[in-house]
Amino acid sequence: MKKLLEINNLSIEFNSDRGTTRAVDTISLSLDKGETLGIVGESGSGKSVTALSIMRLLPSPPAKIVSGEILFHQPETLNLLSLPEKGIERIRGAEIAMIFQEPMTSLNPVFRCGHQVTEAIQLHQKTSFAEAKALTLKLFERVKLPDPTRIFNAYPHQISGGQKQRVMIAMAMSCNPSLLIADEPTTALDVTVQKTILDLMRELKEESGLSMLFISHDLGVISEICDRVVVMFQGKIVEEGSVEKILRQPEHPYTRGLVACRPSLKRKLWRMPTVPDFLENAQFESRVVTPAETQNRQKKAANPGAHFTG
Ligand SMILES: Nc1ncnc2c1ncn2[C@@H]1O[C@H](COP(=O)(O)OP(=O)(O)O)[C@@H](O)[C@H]1O
Ligand SMILES: [Mg+2]
Repeated sequence: MKKLLEINNLSIEFNSDRGTTRAVDTISLSLDKGETLGIVGESGSGKSVTALSIMRLLPSPPAKIVSGEILFHQPETLNLLSLPEKGIERIRGAEIAMIFQEPMTSLNPVFRCGHQVTEAIQLHQKTSFAEAKALTLKLFERVKLPDPTRIFNAYPHQISGGQKQRVMIAMAMSCNPSLLIADEPTTALDVTVQKTILDLMRELKEESGLSMLFISHDLGVISEICDRVVVMFQGKIVEEGSVEKILRQPEHPYTRGLVACRPSLKRKLWRMPTVPDFLENAQFESRVVTPAETQNRQKKAANPGAHFTG
């Protein structure tokens, strides 16, 4: 397989009055052409900062790239971190597209959905409005939006959350990118809608052969769509492997926690285990927990140093 993206030794810090936070700590990863790589980790582990650094969308200051390179092989090798602004603008949206968790914040509420997509098309391709409109309607069909003409003329608040995410996916696909970065694309949606969006993304990937970097705090979602996963914890990559391997033989205590904390339909526990249980005690078993132990663990979990949402 040919590599498309390579991140080597990337470290990113944020400076504020209160000091320096290292949000991403010497991470390295690579993504093959046609591959879907998942990044899983709890909230605050550095997933979005990593994604935004690829697109060069981190506000700097306060963000500072302390070390590393991001190589994009398409086909000649470019270090995205050292490209001039003009160069990265050409890559953004045309070679690398991104979709976010909250489509409402990415779509402008005062413009009709269709026009936002035609505008994106015309930014990167020399086409007339009529051609861009025809392409948009085709894309709306491709992302299975019902009644493309109605959606084209609708304002974002007039369509559902799932439909808005489909509009965003259509916009992302409009320039045939070779890499799609999806940062928690289904997190804001309810479970049934989540599934239809994941199905769509899988289909688009198979049809077009694009590579995907798929970010989620939810290992279940990641395992639905990814070939390989990296696990991030406190800015570092603590584990990497195929979805199979991560689910069957997780090695790092944090990953073991993530895998074991997925609810099971087969066993009823007094209390669901949480990731801190695994970090505190690598030997923790998924057994019935006594009320006294529950209280004890809840006290420990209340410790602000151990706050987990992932
Ligand atoms: N704009 C910012 N200013 C200061 N610190 C930030 C900013 N964005 C992110 N961070 C820091 O980077 C860490 C990682 O954030 P992020 O990548 O958004 O996490 P997530 O894994 O939830 O996507 C945060 O915990 C925070 O310390
Ligand atoms: Mg995030």
